[in-house]
Parts: sequence; structure tokens; C-alpha cells
Amino acid sequence: MSSPAVPPARAYRRSGLHDPMLHRGYEACRRATHVTGEIEYAVSLLLPPPLRIATWALYGAVRAVDDLADVAEPCGGTNAERSERLEAWISAFDADLRDGRSTDPVRHALIHTILTWNLPPEFLHTLFEELRQDVHGRQFATWQEWRHYNSLINTPLVLRAGSLLTRAAGLTAEPEAIAAGVPDAALAWQTAVDAIYLTDALVDLSDDLDRGHVPLPQEALDEAGVHRADLLARRSTPAFEELVRHLAGRARTWLDRIPLPPVLHPAVGIALGAYTDLYRLRLKAAADGPAALLHHRPALPRSARLRLLLPARAKAALAWGLFPFPIQPCPLPPSAPADPTEGLGWAEEVRSLAAQRRPIVPPTPHPSGARPPRLPAAAMPRHVAIVMDGNGRWATARGLPRTDGHRAGAKTLLDVVHGALEIGLKHLTVYAFSTENWKRPADELHALMYEIPQGLRRLTDDAEPLDVRVRWAGTPSRLPADVIETLTEAERSTRDRTALTVTMCVNYGGRTEITEAAAKLAQEAVAGRVDPRSVSEHAFARYLHVPELPDVDLLLRTGGDQRTSNFLPWQATYAELLFLDAPWPEVDRRDLWHAIEQYARRTRRYGSVPRTPVPAQQVPLSEQGAPAK
Ligand code: IPE
Ligand code: IPE
Ligand code: MG
Repeated sequence: MSSPAVPPARAYRRSGLHDPMLHRGYEACRRATHVTGEIEYAVSLLLPPPLRIATWALYGAVRAVDDLADVAEPCGGTNAERSERLEAWISAFDADLRDGRSTDPVRHALIHTILTWNLPPEFLHTLFEELRQDVHGRQFATWQEWRHYNSLINTPLVLRAGSLLTRAAGLTAEPEAIAAGVPDAALAWQTAVDAIYLTDALVDLSDDLDRGHVPLPQEALDEAGVHRADLLARRSTPAFEELVRHLAGRARTWLDRIPLPPVLHPAVGIALGAYTDLYRLRLKAAADGPAALLHHRPALPRSARLRLLLPARAKAALAWGLFPFPIQPCPLPPSAPADPTEGLGWAEEVRSLAAQRRPIVPPTPHPSGARPPRLPAAAMPRHVAIVMDGNGRWATARGLPRTDGHRAGAKTLLDVVHGALEIGLKHLTVYAFSTENWKRPADELHALMYEIPQGLRRLTDDAEPLDVRVRWAGTPSRLPADVIETLTEAERSTRDRTALTVTMCVNYGGRTEITEAAAKLAQEAVAGRVDPRSVSEHAFARYLHVPELPDVDLLLRTGGDQRTSNFLPWQATYAELLFLDAPWPEVDRRDLWHAIEQYARRTRRYGSVPRTPVPAQQVPLSEQGAPAK
């Protein structure tokens, strides 16, 4: 196997990657590609660095997942164990993708590639489905079944890799769109994928036989007079040898029909040409020694491979030099949080250091002595959002002015924050004042504009600082200057705290947030800083009030009404909803804990079908047994 034309470190640098975690992930993917994808790796080296590393991430991550489902060591294990490993990886990937990053280096690199190139992640789900099938082995009765399977599972993956290349060629259309617009093109793509997978079925035959699978349709074996039992016993027969030659010829014909989009960057044409040539070489190696296929994978003849690759490399380098790389992948923020003191003035820096020295205090226990339930980490929501409603009605019911309700509500918030810290919640977002609340009477607005900063100051109390970082989501328009100042100062003074992030939604409206994001994005596009073709959901979210706010897992509303009132429409699309009758001033941390316990019992599917249903009695929701309150 050849060594990379430029050292990987340089490829990462030239791709603008400086995050060490991303380096590790891409390196793991590169190694997996190098070891398992001889042809893919060789072709990746013909591509410019950003495309090269994307190819490694896609191919290498798929191999890493494939290994989890593999019977061979180091993973191995029973079908159930392999299936469990696979499901755990897939759910972790789904969760990481929602966050846009992962602590697992391979998933991190894969997600980085998906987001950078705006690749629709659904295609990976079809691939995961293939891996699930692999665990139990696959059998095809007919060619039609085999083709149908390819069209559902393998074609999307190949098309996605193809889409990277067509974008590099300056084509904006996706392969599916090209296929839809050009008669017969869809069929031609499908044929190309069939050629690749038929070739792989032949060269990977011995691996499949190790697992007890015969990857060819039974129809093909029957027609050729080949017996399954002979193959599994690794007995070569003249009929089998004839079948291999026949199938290699068929794959070669399909390969010859690979359609190239009409406008291609010359280097992309060179890479695609080398890819098909290497596959032809692979087919020749298979057809030259059919009996050997039963025992091992044929290697590509070294001299023929070099005869092909050396000129391709020289031509590709020349082409990339003559025609500059035309695409601008959408850059992502680094995964490591920026140094919080970076950019601060000297005085601020001193203050920030002083604040760091002040010891953080733990949350105070609830006066009743109640302790939080202990939940398995996987059952915990990461982000709870609360519509703190019912202050006014609570006060009115007691013959008090509505403003007293808001004061009581501020106390509730403080207790709930202590409870969130105790249970180990990472994100709590609360709706304190909506863009619609300006419709209220002046005296109530006045009281709210006093209570909100007052409550915030208690939360960020410098004498006894909790490990709580405050963020503000909302728009400054119409807010009094002192409220804006308290919010921004709270954000600044708590920026180093890490246990819990409390996002205060003050003068917040979901539609305003989305509209403002769209306006900012449009300005960037007009200024030429953003390519409209690179706008993905993830790229769009960077323009929201608090871009790093994760998706809401649990949305809670107190006060008895069952609506969301313009709260977090972007972030809460898949939130579990829970409505409590109690008005906010009557609520305390035990209600939060109880709500989290209810959340932990729910099944979240995100549009898919649950894979490993866990019987309810196996979920140790609370070690205390009874609900906390
Ligand atoms: C929520 O309580 C606080 C704010 C909206 C500012 P409300 O003031 O809406 O109380 P109800 O719904 O009228 O009881
Ligand atoms: C939602 O409560 C806003 C806050 C809790 C800040 P509202 O009381 O304003 O909602 P509606 O008017 O009943 O929908
Ligand atoms: Mg209300």
C-alpha cells in the first residue's frame, strides 16, 4: 500500500483543522481507510486535502461501525452482544449529531464532515440499517432482491461520496437531482453501485464465508450449478470458477457504464477515472484466480497498480494546481471552548481571576430534607426548559396584586436552580418575559422589570457563588438599560462556571429569534461571507440568540395551560412536553425532579423505530422508589 503523498498532518493543516480532538478522529478514520479500503485510500490521495480528509471520515467511520457488528476479533461476541454494541453507537451518534460534536473522536470527525459539507445525515441511517442486517447475515434469493437492497442501502452512501466530488467540480446540484433531471441517469448510478458491490462480493467472499454468509443471490448459484455447501466448505468446482468469470465480466460491463456528470473539474475526472480503473484491476485479479477467492482476498498487482496511480497522481496535482479548488466548505467553530479570559482587558482579567478564586458553594438542600432521585446518566435529560406560568393567577387567588406573584415566582426559580444542580442537570432554560408580555399593564411591566434583574442578582450572588453559568436569550429592543446591563454582566461574571447553564429568556420570542437569525444570515450572504448553498440547519443555528444551546429534551409548563406561547420553537422541536397544573409560585425543586423522572420513563424515537425496548421494570429510575414529593 502506498504512503500518503503529503503527510496527514499537512492535509489537516491545509484543511484548516486545528482542533486536536478532530485530528485524532480524522487520524483514526484515515488509518481505518488505509487498512480496509485499498482503492478508496489510493483515490483519496488524488483529492485536495479538504476532500481527502472528508473521504477518510466517511469511509473510516463506516468501517469503525462495521467492526462493531463484526464477528471477528477484537469485537466478536454473540449476535445479541454485537447488536447491542451497534445500537449503542448509533444512539450515541444521533445524540452527538444533535449537539454538533462528540467526545468520541471518530464520531466527532464524522459529524464534522457531515456538517462542514452539509451532507444529509439520513443516508447514514440507511447504512446503519445495512449493518444491522449484517449482524444476522443476509441472503438474497434473486438478483432483483440483491439490486433492490443495493438501491436502498448502498446507493445513498456512494451518491453522498459522489456529491462531495461533484461539489468540488463546482456543480451545485446533488447527484439525486442530476439523476432526476437526466433521463436514465438514476439507472446508470444504480448500475455503477451494483458494479462496485458485485466486485466487492467476489473479492470479500472468503470473509463472508467465515461468517457463514454467501453474498451472491441463490438464483445466480442455481443457474451456474454451484452448491452453497461446496462454497461453505471452500471446495472450488469448475462451475464456481465459471461463475466467478461470468460475474466479473458482468461487473466490468456495468462499470463501463458509469456516468460522469457533464461538467467536471479535471482532477475529479482523474480521481473517478482512477477509481473505476482500480476496480477493473480488482475484477481482473478476481477472475484470474477464482479458486483462491474461497480462501483470501486477492491483492491488486503492485506494478499494475503503480502504473495506474503514478500518472494519475501527477495529473491530479497538475489539475488542482491549474484550476484552484472551487469550493468553500462551511467552517465550524472549534470544539474546545475558547479561553474565557481571551480578549478581556487588564482590569477585567484581574476581576475574572479574583472571581475564579472565590470558592463556589454547593447547592443548599431543600428544607424538607428531600434528596434528588438518582437516575442512570442515559435517562437524564440534558436540557430542561420551563414556561414559568401562573404567577398572576396564584396571587389573585390569594387576594394579592399580580406583582406579588412575580416576586414569589423569583423565589421558586432560585429553589429550582438549586434542585437542578443537585440532580446534575446541565442546561436549564426559563421563560421569564416574552416579546408578547409588553401587552401587560404598565405597573405589572414595571414590577417585572424590577423582579427579573433582582432575581438574577440573587442567582449570581458574588458572596456565595453557585456553579451556575448564566446566559441571556432575547432581544434588547424595548428593555430598560439596567435590565440589559444586569443580564450581560451576569453572563460575563459567570462565564467560567460549568456545572449548570441557566439561560434566561427575557424579552424572548421564538419567531423573533428565528427571524433575526435569518436576517443576519441574509446579510452575511449578501456580503459574500456565506455561501447560500452551504446553509444547513446547523449553520443556521449559529445565528440564534444562544447558538450553543442544545436541543430541549423536556419542556415543562406550569399554571395549567397546554401551549408553548412562542417559546424555543427551533430548539424544542423534539422536546418531551409536560404540563403541570400548579402555578409557578407553588412549584419547587421536587416538581422538577419528579418531572425528570417522568421524562426518564418516556421513549424517544426521533422518527425511527425503537430498537432495544427495555422492559419498564429493568429501568432503575429512582433508587428511592417513590416519587420525590
Ligand atoms: C408568568 O406568569 C410570568 C410572566 C408571563 C411574566 P403570568 O403573569 O403569566 O401568570 P398568569 O398566567 O397570568 O397566572
Ligand atoms: C408565557 O406565559 C411567557 C412567560 C412565562 C414568560 P404567558 O402567560 O405570557 O403566556 P400566554 O399568554 O398565557 O400564552
Ligand atoms: Mg400566564
